[in-house]
Amino acid sequence: MTACPDHPSCVTLLRDYDFAASHRLALLDRTDDENLAIFGKCSSPNGHGHNYRLRVAVELGDDPAARSVDLDRIVETHVLKHFDHKHLNLDTPFFMDRLPSVENIALTIHALLAEAMSGSPLKFVGVRVWETDRTSASTSERV
Ligand code: NI
Repeated sequence: MTACPDHPSCVTLLRDYDFAASHRLALLDRTDDENLAIFGKCSSPNGHGHNYRLRVAVELGDDPAARSVDLDRIVETHVLKHFDHKHLNLDTPFFMDRLPSVENIALTIHALLAEAMSGSPLKFVGVRVWETDRTSASTSERV
């Protein structure tokens, strides 16, 4: 038993990425006015954009092979390629049956990266996604 914080599994490595995307938050069986009342400006009928920030948290742990894993390539291939400069409702398959809210974007990206890093010596911890400077959603208290 090694006491924290003197052990690699006690350390979280964080790396930030940016993507720009558009979205619309709306319930399709509601009117535009009802959606405005529920979702505010994010219900704007033709969508609108945000500059999102994505923070990815991993543990390197004890396996030296973890250092050789190309995290940037994983994030680019499994996330940014699908999200950057896309309309999240229309151009991706992830939000057909759920709203592209910042919480759901974080959950979706978490699932994509958990799958991508399963079997990797890198241990995936979680993500935080910022929709604005003041609003973000995270999937782990460590990120
Ligand atoms: Ni919005």
